[in-house]
Amino acid sequence: MSNLTESLKNNIKTGWESPSNIALVKYWGKYDNQLPQNPSVSFTLSTAATRTFVTYSESNHEGMDVSFLFDGHENAPFKSRIEKFLNQMSSEYFPFLKNGHIAIETSNSFPHSSGIASSASAMSALALCLCDIENSLNGNTTFSDAFFRKASFISRLASGSACRSVFPLMAVWGLVPTVAGSSEEWAIGFSEDIHPVFHNFHDDILIISPNEKSVSSSAGHQLMENNPYAPARYTQAGDRLKTLLVAIRDGDIDTFGKITEAEALTLHALMMCSDPAYILMEEGSLTVIKKIQKFRVETGIPVWFTLDAGPNVHVLYPADADQQVQSFIISELKPYCHEGKIIRDKVGTGPKKIS
Ligand code: DP6
Repeated sequence: MSNLTESLKNNIKTGWESPSNIALVKYWGKYDNQLPQNPSVSFTLSTAATRTFVTYSESNHEGMDVSFLFDGHENAPFKSRIEKFLNQMSSEYFPFLKNGHIAIETSNSFPHSSGIASSASAMSALALCLCDIENSLNGNTTFSDAFFRKASFISRLASGSACRSVFPLMAVWGLVPTVAGSSEEWAIGFSEDIHPVFHNFHDDILIISPNEKSVSSSAGHQLMENNPYAPARYTQAGDRLKTLLVAIRDGDIDTFGKITEAEALTLHALMMCSDPAYILMEEGSLTVIKKIQKFRVETGIPVWFTLDAGPNVHVLYPADADQQVQSFIISELKPYCHEGKIIRDKVGTGPKKIS
């Protein structure tokens, strides 16, 4: 082995910026090792993203040594989650991690206390860095479809929804008979059968509350195991997804909106009929949802909402309605946002290598 290869092996640095995504048909319920009970589909976002840099150096002693900085500061709970994940990955997928020093520096583009679920962007950014280091160790310099598939697979093991973040525009995760190549093990990019109106669809995220959720997503997935409505829900998700993809291909915003809103409400209904039952929406969430629906009916402007597993509301609308929707949001919805916080986001082009 040449000296150059030796020195590369001991100081491989990579950086990726990876976006968050918003599910239109939701993943809620899983089995075995992070496999989804039903297929899901999402928009890849662009503004809400995580930037992660990883430096890998092989060490001559046994064991992994991890240093971790979040926004330039140590963060013990985050570090221990990452360490646990890296340990799992080292036994099966990335043996080079076993005796290496791994220095991770990460930061989010969105404010700390925005209540935005950052696991999709954070875990996909980390997965991309790990796959990139493996690529370098194997002497590969290109990023093939197989590279992104593995990144999606690894992201899924860290956090299910993260597997959908590594593709431009949209991603499908789970088995869908009408989508060739779809899989439960990884997401696949879905960028061909999308009507142009959805290519730059807007998603303004209203921060209703920045507080930590009372029930985590992982706990929520687990509660689906005894939810009496679960079997019907899983069938419904598959049916809705099929109809939604046709609407997205045809530019049928009405059908798109109806399914998207129904999915958001179903997700929260499933929480409310779990045992124990719980509610993650706040009063403000309900108020803005009703205002969005009223505005749509009164003006005919196609603006719709969705929710993730929390109180924040995503306002979805086509780019050409931007001006009217902006004045509506500022005058009618902003007062219900925590400190007036809104993240203006839209459909994005996927992750970027930044180092
Ligand atoms: C409501 O991906 O956060 O956002 O796999 O346990 O990490 P884990 O769960 P997570 O669940 C996301 C649930 C959701 C819907 C979705 O993104 O599809």
